[in-house]
Amino acid sequence: MHPQTTGRWTPAALSADLTAGTAMPVNLAAGTIALWRSASGRLSASDDRCPHRGMRLSHGFVRGEKLSCIYHGWSYGQDGQCLRIPAHPDLTPPKTIRVETYPVVEQDGVIWVADGNEPDAPPRLEGFTPLRSLNVHAGIAAIERAAGAKADADGILKSAGETLRLLLSDHGNDETLMHVLVSREATPAERIAASREAEALRRKAEAAGIEGGKS
Ligand code: FES
Repeated sequence: MHPQTTGRWTPAALSADLTAGTAMPVNLAAGTIALWRSASGRLSASDDRCPHRGMRLSHGFVRGEKLSCIYHGWSYGQDGQCLRIPAHPDLTPPKTIRVETYPVVEQDGVIWVADGNEPDAPPRLEGFTPLRSLNVHAGIAAIERAAGAKADADGILKSAGETLRLLLSDHGNDETLMHVLVSREATPAERIAASREAEALRRKAEAAGIEGGKS
C-alpha cells in the first residue's frame, strides 16, 4: 500500500480510543491502515484492504486474536497471515494470502505506527498524559503558525505557554490529526482549560487556512 518508505513513527491513535476487541481505520500520509487490538490486548496494524475482494479490514470484527473481514469472513492473524476462509473450513489458507503489516508500539498512552522502515523508537512523552484527539481541517504548517511554534524533530509541538504537547499526524490534503497531551499533574480544571486551548488553536489554524490559502 505504501509506496514511500519514510521510516518514521506516526502517532496513530490514543490508547484509550482503541479498546480490546475493536478495529479502527487510521489515516497516514501515505494511505489508510487497519489498526486493531485483540481480545487479549495485543495491537496490530495492517493494510486496510482484504486480499479477497478489497473490503476495508478496519470495518471488520475482532474475534479473539484474529481480525475477520466483514464481507466473507476471511480471518487474519497479527502477522497478517490469512488463517481461515469460512467457505472452505477444512482448507489451510496458503501462505500467499496475507496482508502487509506495520510495526506498532504503544507507550505513554499513545499508539505509534511505523510507516516504512522501522526507526529506532518513538519519542517518549515523560511527564505528560494524553487528553484527547482533534481533527483539524488545516495542514501542520497552519497549526504551527497558529501556535507560534514549530514542531521539533520528533513531531512534537509545545504550546506557547508550555501547557500542551501536541502530536501532529499529517493526513494529507490539509487535514491533520492532533493528539493533545497535558501535564500528568494537571488538575481537572487545568485539563478543561487545556482542552479549550487546543480547540481555540484548531479554530485559529482552520481560519488562517481559509483566509490565506491552506498549507
Ligand atoms: S472481501 Fe474480505 S473476505 Fe471477501
